[in-house]
Amino acid sequence: MSTLVSPSAQPLSNLEDWDDFLEGRYKEGKSDAEFRQYDATANPGVAEFYRLNHENQTLGYVLEKEKQYFALNRGEKSVWEAAEYLNTLVDDSDPDTDLTQLEHLLQTSEAIRRDGHPRWMVLTGFIHDLGKCLCLYGEPQWGVVGDTFPVGCAWSDQIVFPEYFAGNPDAHVPEYQTKYGIYEPNCGLENVHMSFGHDGYIAEVMKPYLPDEALYMLRFHSFYAWHRHGAYGYLTNEKDRAMLEWVNKFNPYDLYSKGHTKPDVKALMPYYTDLFAEFLPARLRW
Ligand SMILES: [Fe+2]
Ligand SMILES: [Fe+2]
Repeated sequence: MSTLVSPSAQPLSNLEDWDDFLEGRYKEGKSDAEFRQYDATANPGVAEFYRLNHENQTLGYVLEKEKQYFALNRGEKSVWEAAEYLNTLVDDSDPDTDLTQLEHLLQTSEAIRRDGHPRWMVLTGFIHDLGKCLCLYGEPQWGVVGDTFPVGCAWSDQIVFPEYFAGNPDAHVPEYQTKYGIYEPNCGLENVHMSFGHDGYIAEVMKPYLPDEALYMLRFHSFYAWHRHGAYGYLTNEKDRAMLEWVNKFNPYDLYSKGHTKPDVKALMPYYTDLFAEFLPARLRW
């Protein structure tokens, strides 16, 4: 990590630890019962990361972060510039075996492209993790990556490590602890405040330019309790239920596209430069 923080605030040795944990959690063929077996002793760094995440992601925290970042006043950058900026996030991992952030983005988008999906979905694969630049703005890991979930209403037990919510101050706000909390039944996920992270941020950046299907993939790609475990159906509306299909179409590319060969960034550049120009302005507000 490029930012200086105490080890307990950054329990993952790098952001990829969380992605690796996800990949293991959802190994193909694994049952829901096996998913439940994750405990703190097996993954101490990941468990500590989720403890911090679950304890600190209060409704008040989320509203403040939305105000801070959703106004998009961190300057303008092209997509390439944003990707290069994210690539300066150097983790203390082995550079020979681990992919750079840019390589993960390209592996995701190239896998989508190989399967013949629409061009906007290839683009979505490339940009889906660009919001991790929040780390470079000084946000802690627990406020950038990790499963996302609605705040301001009762937490589902389908969220990983649900026991850590006991330490969240919102646990003592009765209004936030009912099934619907501050929301109306079936109000639609677009009206729900999600725990803050890279997903919501990149969706805000791309909102004016991409179709709803793409925006759902961006905004909800870490909302596993919903797209993988079927929780929170009572907050969803018809549009959410239609979009869920696309979120599920995207998820395997995020989870399983890590290949062994590094993408040839230089060779792929012309294709992606055209792709960005097709959908996005030369510079975007971040
Ligand atoms: Fe992500
Ligand atoms: Fe990802």
